[in-house]
Amino acid sequence: MPAVQQPQWPDSGDLERALKQISTFPPLVFAGEARSLQAALGQVASGNAFLLQAGDCAESFEEFTAVNIREKLRIILQMAVMLTYSMGVPVVKVGRIAGQFAKPRSANTEKVGNIDLPVFRGHMVNDPAAHEDARRPNPDRLIQAYHQSASTLNLLRAFTKGGFADLNRVHAWNQEFVATSAEGQRYEQVAGEIERALAFMRACGVDTETNSALHQVDVYTSHEALILGYEEALTRQDSLTGGWYDCSAHMLWIGERTRQLDGAHIEFLRGVGNPIGCKIGKETNVDFVLNLCETLNPSRIPGRLTLITRMGADHVVDALRPLLRAVRDTGHPVVWACDPMHANTFTAPNGRKTRHFDDIIREITGFVLAHRAEGTWPGGIHIELTGENVTECLGGAEAVSNEDLDTRYETVCDPRLNARQSLDLAFRVTELIRDKK
Ligand code: PEP
Ligand code: CO
Repeated sequence: MPAVQQPQWPDSGDLERALKQISTFPPLVFAGEARSLQAALGQVASGNAFLLQAGDCAESFEEFTAVNIREKLRIILQMAVMLTYSMGVPVVKVGRIAGQFAKPRSANTEKVGNIDLPVFRGHMVNDPAAHEDARRPNPDRLIQAYHQSASTLNLLRAFTKGGFADLNRVHAWNQEFVATSAEGQRYEQVAGEIERALAFMRACGVDTETNSALHQVDVYTSHEALILGYEEALTRQDSLTGGWYDCSAHMLWIGERTRQLDGAHIEFLRGVGNPIGCKIGKETNVDFVLNLCETLNPSRIPGRLTLITRMGADHVVDALRPLLRAVRDTGHPVVWACDPMHANTFTAPNGRKTRHFDDIIREITGFVLAHRAEGTWPGGIHIELTGENVTECLGGAEAVSNEDLDTRYETVCDPRLNARQSLDLAFRVTELIRDKK
């Protein structure tokens, strides 16, 4: 089947050797974990939990440090605890992390000065530097992506199970540059309430120090399953059930540019047991979405399929409502998640690709309104963010302005919310959902 968005690897022998090697490496995740995530997403599908999927647009081989991983986890934990506390439902946490290294692109080449260069396709394919050599796809990068994913996941597991994510440390997740901001103060207040609730539970005789539900969290991994050779090399048969799982991450998604019903990406993911996502743009029609549900989830397993809508702040209500209605009427148990980032991107006067915080909030608002109108559950959000104090998206409570964009613009692909904007967003979401519940 046609596989779009695949790199033109210069030497098929080198590619084969790299993939063969990866196919002998240990899997990154265990099938049982993918099933646990699917069960948790099943709760989201039925309106009893909320999905927070977040992380970089593209992970970087250059920004590969413990601090970077920790700060990303920290903001995800902060957002999740605020969402849990005010919505009163479990929050399923999924990172765009430990494998998010490949990017689909709208054009094969880009103009730099007077020359046409092949586009940057993510660090697992080539390098973003603006010269021909850097842009040549190199299969050794697939192996490097595997190793970076393995170490990232290792540290995530250590942090989430080893004490860093302990709810008793809720205050410690507030970074200094966040704590001094208005949203950081608001966080402190809620964290204080949580602390008092924990003290109350202790006074009642509940041991909050050893209770694993308070001491540990599950943070799952996900990425766009774009480079099919890599995904295939990590697809293994589960020894417990005999089923096939793509063990490069717990959850995989299909992007807006690769979701052809007769294409290789859908065909591949149809055959693995992981929970899967599919991006849905504003042009999508009812027939396509119903076809997608039947193709990817014929057995109607709750949590198997997440539809991630990315329609744009101005279009979301009108474009989404007919889809919600149609899927609801067929009884397909999908998770509906809102990606308010990808259809609200524009170029700022200084040439930087950016997004405005207000548009991002407007798309989430439209998403929630559409769900309320159709009686369906606005199941989650899908966000590009970083724990660092970057200036890539405009606006927010402590507004990033056009002039600020050059100060700390560090993304290797799309503009991300910084930790303050992300926390601000979490508060807005809790207000929206609480009001609409
Ligand atoms: C992405 O999630 O980074 C992305 C490229 O999204 P989409 O496929 O929706 O454009
Ligand atoms: Co992106």
